[in-house]
Amino acid sequence: MPTVRDLREQAGDEPITMLTAYDAPTAAIVDDAGVDIILVGDSVGNVSLGHETTVPVTVDGIAHHVGAVSRATDDALIVADMPFLSFGVDEKDSLENAGRMLKEEGAQAVKLESGPHTIELTEKMAQLGIPVMAHLGLTPQHVNQYGGYPRQGTDQEAAERILELALAHEEAGAFSLVLEHVPSNLAAEITAALEIPTIGIGAGPDCDGQVLVVNDAVGLSEWSPSFSKQFGNVREEMKSAIDDYISAVESESFPAAEHSHEESDLDELY
Ligand code: KIV
Repeated sequence: MPTVRDLREQAGDEPITMLTAYDAPTAAIVDDAGVDIILVGDSVGNVSLGHETTVPVTVDGIAHHVGAVSRATDDALIVADMPFLSFGVDEKDSLENAGRMLKEEGAQAVKLESGPHTIELTEKMAQLGIPVMAHLGLTPQHVNQYGGYPRQGTDQEAAERILELALAHEEAGAFSLVLEHVPSNLAAEITAALEIPTIGIGAGPDCDGQVLVVNDAVGLSEWSPSFSKQFGNVREEMKSAIDDYISAVESESFPAAEHSHEESDLDELY
Protein backbone atom coordinates (compact mmCIF):
# COMPACT_ATOMS: atom_id res chain seq x y z
CA MET A 1 0.00 0.00 0.00
CA PRO A 2 1.54 3.37 -0.94
CA THR A 3 1.84 5.73 2.01
CA VAL A 4 1.41 9.48 1.81
CA ARG A 5 5.22 9.71 1.88
CA ASP A 6 5.62 7.24 -1.04
CA LEU A 7 3.33 9.43 -3.14
CA ARG A 8 5.62 12.38 -2.68
CA GLU A 9 8.54 10.32 -4.01
CA GLN A 10 6.48 8.84 -6.85
CA ALA A 11 5.46 12.32 -7.98
CA GLY A 12 8.92 13.00 -9.42
CA ASP A 13 9.14 9.61 -11.19
CA GLU A 14 5.78 8.55 -12.56
CA PRO A 15 2.26 10.00 -12.63
CA ILE A 16 -0.01 9.20 -9.68
CA THR A 17 -3.33 7.55 -10.59
CA MET A 18 -6.45 8.15 -8.53
CA LEU A 19 -10.05 7.05 -9.13
CA THR A 20 -13.16 7.27 -7.02
CA ALA A 21 -14.98 4.16 -5.76
CA TYR A 22 -18.00 3.96 -3.51
CA ASP A 23 -18.69 0.24 -3.07
CA ALA A 24 -16.79 -2.99 -2.46
CA PRO A 25 -16.97 -4.61 -5.95
CA THR A 26 -15.88 -1.42 -7.73
CA ALA A 27 -13.10 -0.84 -5.19
CA ALA A 28 -11.84 -4.41 -5.73
CA ILE A 29 -11.67 -3.89 -9.51
CA VAL A 30 -9.99 -0.48 -9.19
CA ASP A 31 -7.52 -1.83 -6.62
CA ASP A 32 -6.68 -4.97 -8.64
CA ALA A 33 -6.04 -2.76 -11.66
CA GLY A 34 -3.29 -1.05 -9.67
CA VAL A 35 -4.58 2.46 -9.07
CA ASP A 36 -2.45 4.29 -6.47
CA ILE A 37 -5.26 6.09 -4.60
CA ILE A 38 -8.96 5.35 -4.20
CA LEU A 39 -10.98 8.42 -3.30
CA VAL A 40 -14.32 7.72 -1.65
CA GLY A 41 -15.59 10.99 -3.06
CA ASP A 42 -18.64 12.88 -1.90
CA SER A 43 -19.47 12.68 -5.62
CA VAL A 44 -21.23 9.52 -4.38
CA GLY A 45 -24.12 11.95 -3.78
CA ASN A 46 -24.76 12.70 -7.44
CA VAL A 47 -23.08 9.63 -8.96
CA SER A 48 -24.70 6.86 -6.90
CA LEU A 49 -27.35 8.27 -4.58
CA GLY A 50 -29.44 10.23 -7.06
CA HIS A 51 -28.88 13.69 -5.54
CA GLU A 52 -28.36 16.69 -7.82
CA THR A 53 -25.27 17.87 -5.89
CA THR A 54 -22.86 16.67 -3.20
CA VAL A 55 -24.45 18.96 -0.60
CA PRO A 56 -26.79 16.36 0.98
CA VAL A 57 -24.01 13.81 1.64
CA THR A 58 -23.63 13.14 5.39
CA VAL A 59 -20.82 11.88 7.61
CA ASP A 60 -22.73 8.65 8.31
CA GLY A 61 -23.34 8.27 4.58
CA ILE A 62 -19.71 8.66 3.52
CA ALA A 63 -18.58 6.46 6.44
CA HIS A 64 -20.79 3.66 5.10
CA HIS A 65 -19.08 3.88 1.68
CA VAL A 66 -15.55 4.25 3.10
CA GLY A 67 -16.09 1.05 5.10
CA ALA A 68 -17.29 -0.84 2.00
CA VAL A 69 -14.31 0.36 -0.05
CA SER A 70 -11.73 -0.36 2.63
CA ARG A 71 -13.00 -3.91 3.16
CA ALA A 72 -12.35 -4.63 -0.54
CA THR A 73 -9.02 -2.82 -0.98
CA ASP A 74 -5.62 -4.41 -0.40
CA ASP A 75 -3.15 -2.06 -2.01
CA ALA A 76 -4.42 1.42 -2.85
CA LEU A 77 -4.28 4.33 -0.41
CA ILE A 78 -7.86 5.15 0.64
CA VAL A 79 -8.85 8.79 0.98
CA ALA A 80 -12.21 9.67 2.55
CA ASP A 81 -13.80 12.85 1.23
CA MET A 82 -15.24 14.95 4.06
CA PRO A 83 -18.82 16.02 3.25
CA PHE A 84 -20.24 19.54 3.19
CA LEU A 85 -20.19 21.14 6.69
CA SER A 86 -18.65 18.06 8.31
CA PHE A 87 -15.49 20.15 8.73
CA GLY A 88 -14.67 23.81 9.17
CA VAL A 89 -17.63 24.75 11.36
CA ASP A 90 -16.40 23.47 14.71
CA GLU A 91 -12.85 22.21 15.20
CA LYS A 92 -13.73 19.40 17.60
CA ASP A 93 -16.48 18.08 15.30
CA SER A 94 -14.17 18.36 12.28
CA LEU A 95 -11.45 16.33 13.99
CA GLU A 96 -13.88 13.70 15.26
CA ASN A 97 -15.56 13.33 11.86
CA ALA A 98 -12.23 12.98 10.06
CA GLY A 99 -10.77 10.76 12.79
CA ARG A 100 -13.75 8.41 12.45
CA MET A 101 -12.82 7.71 8.82
CA LEU A 102 -9.39 6.47 9.93
CA LYS A 103 -10.30 4.85 13.26
CA GLU A 104 -13.53 3.11 12.27
CA GLU A 105 -13.73 2.91 8.49
CA GLY A 106 -10.23 2.05 7.29
CA ALA A 107 -9.25 5.20 5.38
CA GLN A 108 -5.64 6.36 5.53
CA ALA A 109 -6.31 10.04 4.79
CA VAL A 110 -9.10 12.57 4.29
CA LYS A 111 -9.75 15.16 1.60
CA LEU A 112 -11.06 18.60 2.49
CA GLU A 113 -12.49 21.00 -0.08
CA SER A 114 -10.15 23.79 0.89
CA GLY A 115 -10.07 27.54 1.31
CA PRO A 116 -8.84 30.11 3.81
CA HIS A 117 -10.98 28.37 6.45
CA THR A 118 -9.10 25.03 6.18
CA ILE A 119 -5.49 26.21 6.66
CA GLU A 120 -5.44 25.95 10.47
CA LEU A 121 -7.61 22.85 10.41
CA THR A 122 -5.21 21.14 7.98
CA GLU A 123 -2.34 21.97 10.32
CA LYS A 124 -4.18 20.60 13.34
CA MET A 125 -5.16 17.40 11.50
CA ALA A 126 -1.61 16.85 10.24
CA GLN A 127 -0.26 17.36 13.76
CA LEU A 128 -2.73 14.81 15.13
CA GLY A 129 -1.84 12.24 12.47
CA ILE A 130 -4.73 12.69 10.04
CA PRO A 131 -3.15 13.12 6.59
CA VAL A 132 -4.99 15.78 4.58
CA MET A 133 -5.39 15.97 0.81
CA ALA A 134 -6.31 19.60 0.03
CA HIS A 135 -8.67 20.48 -2.86
CA LEU A 136 -8.62 23.87 -4.64
CA GLY A 137 -10.05 25.38 -7.82
CA LEU A 138 -13.60 24.22 -8.35
CA THR A 139 -14.91 22.95 -5.01
CA PRO A 140 -18.32 21.42 -5.81
CA GLN A 141 -19.61 21.86 -2.24
CA HIS A 142 -19.80 25.59 -3.14
CA VAL A 143 -22.31 24.90 -5.92
CA ASN A 144 -24.96 27.08 -4.30
CA GLN A 145 -22.53 29.96 -3.98
CA TYR A 146 -21.19 29.56 -7.54
CA GLY A 147 -24.64 28.94 -9.05
CA GLY A 148 -23.20 25.99 -11.04
CA TYR A 149 -19.78 24.51 -11.69
CA PRO A 150 -17.75 27.29 -13.37
CA ARG A 151 -14.04 27.14 -14.24
CA GLN A 152 -11.87 28.68 -11.54
CA GLY A 153 -8.66 30.73 -11.58
CA THR A 154 -9.40 32.26 -14.94
CA ASP A 155 -8.21 35.82 -14.12
CA GLN A 156 -4.90 36.94 -12.63
CA GLU A 157 -6.27 37.76 -9.19
CA ALA A 158 -8.15 34.46 -8.85
CA ALA A 159 -5.14 32.50 -10.12
CA GLU A 160 -2.87 34.20 -7.57
CA ARG A 161 -5.34 33.44 -4.79
CA ILE A 162 -5.34 29.74 -5.68
CA LEU A 163 -1.52 29.65 -5.75
CA GLU A 164 -1.36 31.39 -2.34
CA LEU A 165 -3.86 28.95 -0.86
CA ALA A 166 -1.95 26.00 -2.35
CA LEU A 167 1.29 27.19 -0.73
CA ALA A 168 -0.51 27.84 2.58
CA HIS A 169 -1.96 24.30 2.63
CA GLU A 170 1.43 22.78 1.81
CA GLU A 171 2.93 24.81 4.65
CA ALA A 172 0.09 23.65 6.93
CA GLY A 173 1.03 20.02 6.27
CA ALA A 174 -1.28 18.80 3.48
CA PHE A 175 0.31 15.76 1.78
CA SER A 176 -1.19 16.43 -1.66
CA LEU A 177 -3.50 18.79 -3.50
CA VAL A 178 -6.37 18.17 -5.90
CA LEU A 179 -6.75 20.93 -8.50
CA GLU A 180 -10.15 20.93 -10.17
CA HIS A 181 -11.27 22.75 -13.33
CA VAL A 182 -8.50 25.35 -13.47
CA PRO A 183 -6.43 26.45 -16.50
CA SER A 184 -3.67 23.99 -17.35
CA ASN A 185 -1.00 26.71 -17.22
CA LEU A 186 -2.08 27.65 -13.69
CA ALA A 187 -2.00 23.97 -12.64
CA ALA A 188 1.49 23.66 -14.16
CA GLU A 189 2.73 26.68 -12.20
CA ILE A 190 1.23 25.46 -8.94
CA THR A 191 2.75 22.00 -9.52
CA ALA A 192 6.17 23.59 -10.06
CA ALA A 193 5.80 25.77 -6.96
CA LEU A 194 4.82 22.94 -4.59
CA GLU A 195 6.80 20.03 -3.21
CA ILE A 196 3.69 18.00 -2.44
CA PRO A 197 2.06 16.23 -5.42
CA THR A 198 -0.80 17.86 -7.31
CA ILE A 199 -3.58 15.66 -8.68
CA GLY A 200 -5.60 17.24 -11.45
CA ILE A 201 -9.16 16.87 -12.70
CA GLY A 202 -9.85 19.23 -15.56
CA ALA A 203 -6.49 20.83 -14.82
CA GLY A 204 -4.37 19.71 -17.80
CA PRO A 205 -1.45 17.32 -18.20
CA ASP A 206 1.18 18.93 -15.97
CA CYS A 207 -0.09 17.86 -12.55
CA ASP A 208 1.76 15.06 -10.74
CA GLY A 209 -1.29 12.82 -11.08
CA GLN A 210 -4.84 12.61 -12.39
CA VAL A 211 -8.19 11.72 -10.84
CA LEU A 212 -11.54 10.87 -12.43
CA VAL A 213 -14.91 9.78 -11.12
CA VAL A 214 -14.92 6.03 -11.82
CA ASN A 215 -18.43 6.00 -13.30
CA ASP A 216 -17.31 8.65 -15.84
CA ALA A 217 -14.07 6.81 -16.65
CA VAL A 218 -15.71 3.45 -17.34
CA GLY A 219 -18.69 4.90 -19.19
CA LEU A 220 -21.39 4.18 -16.62
CA SER A 221 -22.54 7.78 -16.17
CA GLU A 222 -25.40 9.15 -18.22
CA TRP A 223 -23.62 12.52 -18.31
CA SER A 224 -20.02 13.44 -17.56
CA PRO A 225 -18.11 16.74 -17.57
CA SER A 226 -16.24 17.82 -20.72
CA PHE A 227 -12.85 17.43 -18.99
CA SER A 228 -13.54 13.77 -18.28
CA LYS A 229 -12.82 10.88 -20.64
CA GLN A 230 -14.78 7.69 -21.10
CA PHE A 231 -12.37 4.73 -21.35
CA GLY A 232 -15.07 2.07 -21.70
CA ASN A 233 -18.80 1.65 -22.18
CA VAL A 234 -20.05 -0.15 -19.10
CA ARG A 235 -23.50 1.43 -19.47
CA GLU A 236 -23.93 -0.23 -22.90
CA GLU A 237 -22.52 -3.52 -21.58
CA MET A 238 -24.97 -3.50 -18.65
CA LYS A 239 -27.90 -2.55 -20.83
CA SER A 240 -27.14 -5.31 -23.31
CA ALA A 241 -26.75 -7.90 -20.49
CA ILE A 242 -30.07 -6.80 -18.95
CA ASP A 243 -31.82 -6.91 -22.36
CA ASP A 244 -30.50 -10.46 -22.82
CA TYR A 245 -31.72 -11.44 -19.33
CA ILE A 246 -35.23 -10.11 -20.03
CA SER A 247 -35.37 -11.92 -23.40
CA ALA A 248 -34.14 -15.17 -21.81
CA VAL A 249 -36.78 -15.06 -19.05
CA GLU A 250 -39.52 -14.08 -21.49
CA SER A 251 -38.55 -16.82 -23.95
CA GLU A 252 -38.20 -19.30 -21.03
CA SER A 253 -34.65 -20.19 -22.04
CA PHE A 254 -33.52 -19.14 -18.54
CA PRO A 255 -33.23 -20.82 -16.12
CA ALA A 256 -31.97 -23.88 -18.01
CA ALA A 257 -31.29 -27.31 -16.48
CA GLU A 258 -27.83 -26.28 -15.29
CA HIS A 259 -29.28 -23.38 -13.27
CA SER A 260 -31.69 -25.57 -11.22
CA HIS A 261 -31.62 -28.82 -9.33
CA GLU A 262 -34.25 -31.47 -8.76
CA GLU A 263 -34.44 -33.40 -5.48
CA SER A 264 -35.39 -37.02 -6.27
CA ASP A 265 -36.16 -37.78 -2.57
CA LEU A 266 -38.97 -35.26 -2.39
CA ASP A 267 -42.48 -36.65 -2.54
CA GLU A 268 -45.09 -34.83 -4.51
CA LEU A 269 -46.59 -32.10 -2.30
CA TYR A 270 -49.47 -30.93 -4.41
O1 KIV B 1 -15.93 13.84 -4.86
C1 KIV B 1 -15.13 13.62 -5.77
O2 KIV B 1 -15.26 12.65 -6.52
C2 KIV B 1 -14.02 14.54 -5.96
C3 KIV B 1 -13.11 14.34 -7.12
C4 KIV B 1 -13.79 14.60 -8.39
C5 KIV B 1 -11.84 15.08 -6.99
O3 KIV B 1 -13.86 15.43 -5.16
